[in-house]
Amino acid sequence: MAARSDVVVIGAGAAGMMCALRAGQRGRSVVVLDHARAPGEKIRISGGGRCNFTNIHTSPKSFLSGNPHFCKSALARFTAQDFIAMVERHKIAWHEKTLGQLFCDVSAKDIIRMLLDEMRAAAVELRLGAQVEAIERSAGEFVIRTESGAITARSLVIATGGKSIPKMGATGFAYRIAEQFGLPLVEPRPGLVPLTLDPVLLERLAPLSGIAVPAEIRHGRTSFREALLFTHRGLSGPAILQISSYWREGDDIALVIEPDVDFLSVLKSARQHNGRQAVQTVLGEHLPKRLAQYIAEAHGFAGHLADMSDKVLAKVVAAIQSWAIRPAGSEGYRTAEVTLGGIDTAALDQKTMQAKDVPGLYFIGECVDVTGWLGGYNFQWAWSSGYAAGEAV
Ligand code: FDA
Repeated sequence: MAARSDVVVIGAGAAGMMCALRAGQRGRSVVVLDHARAPGEKIRISGGGRCNFTNIHTSPKSFLSGNPHFCKSALARFTAQDFIAMVERHKIAWHEKTLGQLFCDVSAKDIIRMLLDEMRAAAVELRLGAQVEAIERSAGEFVIRTESGAITARSLVIATGGKSIPKMGATGFAYRIAEQFGLPLVEPRPGLVPLTLDPVLLERLAPLSGIAVPAEIRHGRTSFREALLFTHRGLSGPAILQISSYWREGDDIALVIEPDVDFLSVLKSARQHNGRQAVQTVLGEHLPKRLAQYIAEAHGFAGHLADMSDKVLAKVVAAIQSWAIRPAGSEGYRTAEVTLGGIDTAALDQKTMQAKDVPGLYFIGECVDVTGWLGGYNFQWAWSSGYAAGEAV
């Protein structure tokens, strides 16, 4: 005889735990299954161990999806403020870092503890190290077969995340279940990921490895102003991670280094007041010295400023602030913070996350084709979509 539960949630990550605790609070019997040995492993490592758990500027425009309207309902019904209220009820100290990003003062483990406490209070059963072998559907119910027996449930919630960081147990399980039940997929791909360069460009930029500068990175009409980091593999830093979610193979990105500095005025003024300086000396007052030297040498801006025409100075500015680069690729799922694409939102109900054609089957969190910007948006989607399903199961 299979055990029975009203709800089975597969995946004890951010979305799965939120869904389970809400369903439990509503009086549902809930079992959460996870193949990992500990719940919320991505929460634990997130935000450098302090978990950037939400963003106070959360709005649908900070999410990528085939249907930009899909996320609206869930985000409106469980907001960043709702999550902050939960964090405060559990007396977890937090602070805003920049750009509305909220972090724990002490440890990301506080968030995991909070979710586990809420699950315990709602009588949710958590089974770790649980391998799901098969899922069947009969007579409007799901039979979830695991190594240690089967569970029958009227509602099945898939919260197993995306493919990012396979080393941490990411599996693509949700996509297989979607396929089994005939739900369409938007091709998954790595997002919020460093970009790589071809070997020739990489060698040319090798002297810049380790340098971080404020920059605006553009791709088409999308742009982000944050730090840019040159690495021994290519380009990274928050500005690059953000733009990576929009970038496609074969596209150029534009780098605007130190976008707030008016380099043309700086150079003209330096030429007027001390024309015997080299370009790199003046640039070095506003840029890391190695980058200033690279700009001057790579573009052949030698000699004194006094000998440079306005046209040449404009070329110097273009070398710093209209820099087009064609990345060769990305570092892939090995380092990607999220997986773009996933379960096509057209197949899901936006209020409940239930599959339109498979009553009782729900998909939440990162496995759905809704992906946030860097900065706490992805956890907010996990909380909001988890809560939406938790209200419906
Ligand atoms: P999540 O991946 O959290 O959970 C899925 C769960 O399912 C896991 O517990 C896994 O073990 C389990 N599972 C998978 N396959 C299974 C199977 N076959 N059977 C059983 N269980 C299975 N976001 C943010 O907003 N702020 C931040 O600070 C960060 N920082 C960050 C750092 C790093 C290094 C990464 C990789 C990611 C982030 N993120 C982030 C993104 C964030 O972690 C991510 O969007 C959420 O964890 C997604 O939550 P989910 O619950 O959907 O999946």
